[in-house]
Amino acid sequence: MGDRRPVIAGNWKMYKTGKEAVEFIDDLNELIAGVMDVEIVVAPPFTALPLVAKRIKGGPVRLAAQDLHWEPEGAYTGEISPKMLLDAGCSHVIVGHSERREYFGDTNAIVSRKIKAALAENLIPVFCIGESLEEREAEKTFSVLDKQMSEGLETIDSNDVKKIIIAYEPVWAIGTGRTASNEQAQEVHSFIRRYLTDRHGEEVGNIVRILYGGSVKPENIAGLMAAADIDGALVGGASLTASVFARIVNFPYLL
Ligand code: 13P
Repeated sequence: MGDRRPVIAGNWKMYKTGKEAVEFIDDLNELIAGVMDVEIVVAPPFTALPLVAKRIKGGPVRLAAQDLHWEPEGAYTGEISPKMLLDAGCSHVIVGHSERREYFGDTNAIVSRKIKAALAENLIPVFCIGESLEEREAEKTFSVLDKQMSEGLETIDSNDVKKIIIAYEPVWAIGTGRTASNEQAQEVHSFIRRYLTDRHGEEVGNIVRILYGGSVKPENIAGLMAAADIDGALVGGASLTASVFARIVNFPYLL
C-alpha cells in the first residue's frame, strides 16, 4: 500500500433508484463515521447523482459517475458531458469499464478521449483495465494491459497521468465470485506501476493509486490491501449493501 492514500470505490452499475440510493447513503454515513485515511467513492447511476451529492455534502464520501461523453456538448442523444457530471456533484468518473468495452463499443481510442475530457474538467478518471480469461490463459495478460495503458493514455501528459486512478479488473473475476489471488493481483499491479514509472517517470509511478476490482468482499479485502502495490478496491456487487460496503471501507481495522 505504501504512502498512497487508499481508495475504496463502489460501482453500483445499473442498480438503485434515487430513493434506494439515498437510503444507502444515510446508512453508510453512520457506518463510516470513524473511518480515517480512506478515500471513499460511490458511483451511482446518472439519475441518482444529484440526490446522492446532496446527501454526502460535508462528509468524507466522494461521488463518481460510471461513464461520460468526451465532447463538452452537442447533438449526442442519450449522452452526458463532463460539465454535466460536475454540475451533478461528481469529482470522479469511471472510464473504460470492461462492461462498457464489451457491450457498448468503448475502444482504447474512445477511452483515451474520455480520460482527456474528464481531466480537462478536473474530474478524476478511474481508468479501468483488465484481461479476459482467454487472454490470461493464452499468457497475453501483460501485453493486453500494456496496449490498454499505452493507447488509453496516449495523448495524456505525464503531469496529468499523475491525477488518474487506475483500476485493474480482470474480466474473469468480475461478478464471478472468483477473485484473483493476492499474489496474482500483486504481480499485475507491480507490472502496472513499473509501466507507469518507465513511461511517465518515478514520481508518477509512486503517486498513482492502483485499485483492484473483481469479486472484492469483506472477507478478502484485508489480504489484498496488504500487497505492496494494491492501493484500494473498485467494488461491484458488495458495494450495493451499506453494511457490507462499510465493512470493506473499514478494512484498516481488519488488517
Ligand atoms: P464485482 O465486485 O461484482 O465482481 O464487480 C467488480 C466491478 O466490475 C467493479 O467495477
